Amino acid sequence: MKQPWGGRFKESTDELMLRFSSSIFFDKRLYAYDIEGSIAHCKTLQKCKILKPTEAKKIITGLNKILKEFEAGKFRTKVKLEDIHMNIEKRLIDLVGPVGGKLHTGRSRNDQVALDIRLYLRDEIESIQQSLKQVAKTVLAQAKKHANTLIPGYTHLQRAQPVSLAHHLLAYLEMFARDRERLADALKRTNVMPLGSAALAGTNFPIDRHHTAKLLGFPEVTHNSMDAVSDRDFIIEFCSAASILMMHLSRFCEEIVIWSTSEFAFMELSDAFTTGSSIMPQKKNPDAAELIRGKTGRIYGHLLGLLTLMKGQPLAYNKDLQEDKEPLFDTVDTVQTSLQIFSGMLKTATFAKTKPESLAQSGFLTATDLADYLVLQNVPFRDAHEITGKTVAHCILTGKTLEELTLAELQKISKKIKEDVFGYLSIEQSVKRKNVYGGTAPNQVKTQLARQTKNWK
Ligand code: ARG
Repeated sequence: MKQPWGGRFKESTDELMLRFSSSIFFDKRLYAYDIEGSIAHCKTLQKCKILKPTEAKKIITGLNKILKEFEAGKFRTKVKLEDIHMNIEKRLIDLVGPVGGKLHTGRSRNDQVALDIRLYLRDEIESIQQSLKQVAKTVLAQAKKHANTLIPGYTHLQRAQPVSLAHHLLAYLEMFARDRERLADALKRTNVMPLGSAALAGTNFPIDRHHTAKLLGFPEVTHNSMDAVSDRDFIIEFCSAASILMMHLSRFCEEIVIWSTSEFAFMELSDAFTTGSSIMPQKKNPDAAELIRGKTGRIYGHLLGLLTLMKGQPLAYNKDLQEDKEPLFDTVDTVQTSLQIFSGMLKTATFAKTKPESLAQSGFLTATDLADYLVLQNVPFRDAHEITGKTVAHCILTGKTLEELTLAELQKISKKIKEDVFGYLSIEQSVKRKNVYGGTAPNQVKTQLARQTKNWK
């Protein structure tokens, strides 16, 4: 079998070279988009009188037949035909005869592949958005259940101030909302139609590019043919948004790993999303969370790989660009699965109340509230900090919590402390007092729960 481009060649391609330059192993997943794009191109060729209606009809019938072959698992790809584009074109010619060879009029694989990836990624971004929404809804449902559960909030992974579990979970919803925006933004630049750019310079044929765009539902066409065939910014933007999204999932997973230890015991994962050990019978491991955390590294790797792939390429198309697909496909697959697994894991997890609350009770988490109380008594914050520090030291010495100190003990440290101090030392009071917009006070959290419910409708 001769290569579709074999006209000027006398010798056949080296076997190893053939496999090396072939992308059919991975780009076959673009088949439906390639056919969709070809049908639209064919219709435009007909509209612009480059193809006769009878010719266009034959080609479209052939393409639809090929689509059915793929869907039935009957299409046999050939490595020798390099990629999905030439595999489909060759099959078309076999099916409908030489008229099939007219489909490639005014087109190059360079604008064809750019179109295919844009069509593919457009769909995938939409479906990732759906999965992200599921994650957000799961987080929201858990947050609603735990509006009254108090946990220690941490800085430096040291207990810092009490917060509600809902408030902690809502922090992730802020991240996911930004992820959704970033993905939507990447979609804007993906949703641009490159066909008609041909190899690099545009085409001699009077192709109505806007018509093709309309047929394929693109709101815009590319404005420069050289950029159109060599631009992969939209892939990098997507992978960058995906990296940030995975970073958020990974941070959440890290907390889940910590929180589901028996030392913390803030939550328990379900059997469905944990695994056992082949040697230690007592184990229930948070593999799902660990794997998502681990896969995040791969996604960063793809982003960096793509940036590096692009940095040295002169205009316009270079075969290097074929290397864009595997990292992109793997990013799409990994993000999609990670989101789905994450939803399942979080939905079936149970959060504890007693352990986190008792940890929030101990550890002097309301020390800042005592300092703030002193400030209300007109003590400068620096001095208030010092007095509170001494109070904590006294507690450590006597084995008491701040709440357990008597007024006499407190007044020995500072005369400024009065009876009403006891309205400032419990974790419930501390949380309630964080009544600033975006704070952890119950009514503020309620506002944010309502806002996020609307946000993820
Ligand atoms: N398989 C190629 C790719 O993925 C398609 C475009 C090939 N174009 C070319 N001039 N060799 O980039």
